[in-house]
Amino acid sequence: MPAVIEVQDLTKTYAGGFQALRNVSLSINRGEIFALLGPNGAGKTTLINIVCGIVNLTSGKVFVDGHDIINEFRLARAKIGLVPQELPAESFETVWNTCRFSRGLFGKGADPEHIENVLKSLSLWDKKDTIGMALSGGMKRRVLIAKALAHEPEILFLDEPTAGVDVELRLDMWGVVKSLREQGVTVILTTHYIEEAEQLADRVGVINNGEIILVEEKNKLMREMGKKQLMLHLYDELDDVPLQLSNYDLELSPDKRELTYTYDTKGEHTGITDLINDLRRSGIRFNDLQTSQSSLEDIFVDLVKKT
Ligand SMILES: Nc1ncnc2c1ncn2[C@@H]1O[C@H](COP(=O)(O)OP(=O)(O)OP(=O)(O)O)[C@@H](O)[C@H]1O
Ligand SMILES: [Mg+2]
Repeated sequence: MPAVIEVQDLTKTYAGGFQALRNVSLSINRGEIFALLGPNGAGKTTLINIVCGIVNLTSGKVFVDGHDIINEFRLARAKIGLVPQELPAESFETVWNTCRFSRGLFGKGADPEHIENVLKSLSLWDKKDTIGMALSGGMKRRVLIAKALAHEPEILFLDEPTAGVDVELRLDMWGVVKSLREQGVTVILTTHYIEEAEQLADRVGVINNGEIILVEEKNKLMREMGKKQLMLHLYDELDDVPLQLSNYDLELSPDKRELTYTYDTKGEHTGITDLINDLRRSGIRFNDLQTSQSSLEDIFVDLVKKT
């Protein structure tokens, strides 16, 4: 798949000397959903704002569909829709006009039907004649998404699209993103709801302290870094894990009632059958067992802790 966004050795130092991005290189494939994850202040918004031409880069190159974002700014920008993290100041414009004007700004001819579809997909149709300042926070965020889609961009940046919105909008938004992917739109999103990335993303990038520390297919990441656990609720209290079980990764709970076995998801054998046989041989009985699998959230927290 050819890259639709190519970031090469990008560095950003803000006026005042703070270095927000250090030698970031990243390729985004056409048609994928890419989730950019990282703690507060990691540099996600800075990276997105540079690609969208809102923040100037210090050094490095960025290409959008082959267009250099500095020398061919208009061509590059026309491909992009941006849903910014910050809600803009109150507006006296109606929802309908906000979307209509935004489309015009990118030189696209009027297309009321497209705008109607976008507003309906975001449950905003009944608010089309309401002015911005009369909308709730969640509705304002929906309008930002509608506005970003008004000119039918090939690439959509969603910078924390579901911060402070209700469950319903979150689900609506996921539906919109999935249907955009079906239409071939490339979506780059940042989120602090890791579950959102787990639901939507094809690939995940993790950024910390201005550096990309990992880029991986989500499924591969979860397979390779995920761990599974088996929890055994013991019949009798156990003082210590017996020596003959020392080759298993076992942990005894402080109340001596639960034994947790951690195993790799990428290994061919889980070792569970062997463990259960060995437990029986050691005379350890259990009356309940449960398994759990680490989420993308656990993996992410682990990654960021290590750097
Ligand atoms: N205009 C600015 N001037 C100086 N420093 C800035 C400016 N904008 C951002 N920064 C700094 O750059 C760093 C990265 O900020 P950025 O907004 O890119 O982080 P982020 O990953 O989007 O965080 P969050 O998850 O909180 O949105 C932060 O330390 C921030 O304080
Ligand atoms: Mg941000």
